[in-house]
Amino acid sequence: MRIVSPYTVLGFVVVWTIVILLASRQFLFNAHQSWFQHEEQKMVQELSVKLDNLDSRDTRQLNEVYAAVKRVEVMLHKIQECLRSDNCSEKKNRPTRSAVTTQPATIEPSVAVLVIACNRDTYIRRTLDSLLKHRPSAGLFPIIVSQDCGHTPTANVISSYGNRLTHIKQPDLSDIVLTKEKKDIKNMKALKGYYKISRHYRWALGQVFDEMGYNYVLVVEDDLEVAPDFFSYFSALQRLLDRDPTIWCISAWNDNGKPDNVDLQSNAKLYRSDFFPGLGWMMTRRLWKELQPKWPEKYWDDWMREPAQRQGRSCIRPEISRTITFGDKGVSAGQFYRQHLQYIKLNSDPVNFSKLNMSQLQEAEYDRLFLDRVLALPSLAVTDVVNQRRPELREVQVTYSTHKEFEANAKKMKIMFDFRGGVPRTAYKGVVSLMYKGRRVHLTPPQPWTGYDSIS
Ligand SMILES: *[C@@H]1O[C@H](CO)[C@@H](O)[C@H](O)[C@H]1NC(C)=O
Ligand SMILES: *[C@@H]1O[C@H](CO)[C@@H](O)[C@H](O)[C@H]1NC(C)=O
Ligand SMILES: *[C@@H]1O[C@H](CO)[C@@H](O)[C@H](O)[C@H]1NC(C)=O
Repeated sequence: MRIVSPYTVLGFVVVWTIVILLASRQFLFNAHQSWFQHEEQKMVQELSVKLDNLDSRDTRQLNEVYAAVKRVEVMLHKIQECLRSDNCSEKKNRPTRSAVTTQPATIEPSVAVLVIACNRDTYIRRTLDSLLKHRPSAGLFPIIVSQDCGHTPTANVISSYGNRLTHIKQPDLSDIVLTKEKKDIKNMKALKGYYKISRHYRWALGQVFDEMGYNYVLVVEDDLEVAPDFFSYFSALQRLLDRDPTIWCISAWNDNGKPDNVDLQSNAKLYRSDFFPGLGWMMTRRLWKELQPKWPEKYWDDWMREPAQRQGRSCIRPEISRTITFGDKGVSAGQFYRQHLQYIKLNSDPVNFSKLNMSQLQEAEYDRLFLDRVLALPSLAVTDVVNQRRPELREVQVTYSTHKEFEANAKKMKIMFDFRGGVPRTAYKGVVSLMYKGRRVHLTPPQPWTGYDSIS
């Protein structure tokens, strides 16, 4: 049996003393800051000298001890750096190890996928199947289904997915008592539906942000099908929400995304939009904290489009939608918009968005690269565009100066013509971009741009 060198034993004792000191460094550091720093250095030096002078036959063991000491030295150095520059405060409550372990900088925090459900048991299955089919990782995109309405068949469908998702149930199923609007009997059911949706959103968002503590939520309604690159899109754009304070949402939806109005060759193209599109969208906890205290009783989506909530901020939307809605039965069924929704094209050729340079979507870059270029394009009258005159011009502007004029142009090109909160669908600083009969057309507002208020 081999006898272990007494110097080696000494080496281990010293190393372990340092490790124990490290474990209690917060206490020691607070109590005796300069003493601790001095002792630390003295100990490491002593140990190194002892081991350097050691003349032992067992070189393998010595090398191990020496390597261990070197590791402790590096650890101590890192801790000293961190304490000296006073920038490790966010790590104070964590175990000591986290102060010295290098975390990969690129790990994304997880995003809760919040699915809003009510009583459409056949729809929810299609939505959940599509999410689960394309989700790259359960860790990064946990699915939480929030169910209102207490509808048992829907609850049964959701439960059948077992632990692949979290099922939460809105506890407040009480009827909505209409006071002011009582006389409007014809639309009472629909109106109550809008109140219930708003109440459900407030509760569900509160659960994921406040109770579960997520920092990002991706909101999906129970009648959406998602594209294969839906998650790639949101993963790549998530950081933009933190980086650019003028962006408040990422949406998967293009309101003018019918096949005739998009460029199928440009499915990686993204835009800023002042119009909140909804229909598969991401928000941050910071935004939730801002909106929560004033969350409305009804029409939450149009409320978000009002200037008081939007505060000049934009969303990102794709050229080709990454969601489609297959619902035809809901509180807004029968409206014109519902009819239009069914023609929206869902992207089928997946894009790997993590390879794209998203910094070009930040306000200053985007305005320089996109807006300035568009405003320098040749102008055509809308009738020339509709009648395909000047076909050599592959990209043009069609100017408008009033709401009425925008509406007339949009109707001639068969795109969405309504304004919400003063903003036409998909508009960015008044510019609405689309494909029309194979040519790129931008509806552009009066220049210089002074805001939506200036459009009469
Ligand atoms: C802490 O400060 C030091 C020195 O100023 C610097 O080298 C290091 O990168 C900083 N670390 C962090 C996490 O900011
Ligand atoms: C997307 O691109 C990134 C970076 O090049 C790569 O790491 C990743 O595997 C790609 N994802 C897919 C699904 O191809
Ligand atoms: C991304 O685009 C920005 C702005 O156009 C540019 O400054 C930057 O160098 C680009 N980054 C890469 C990695 O191409």
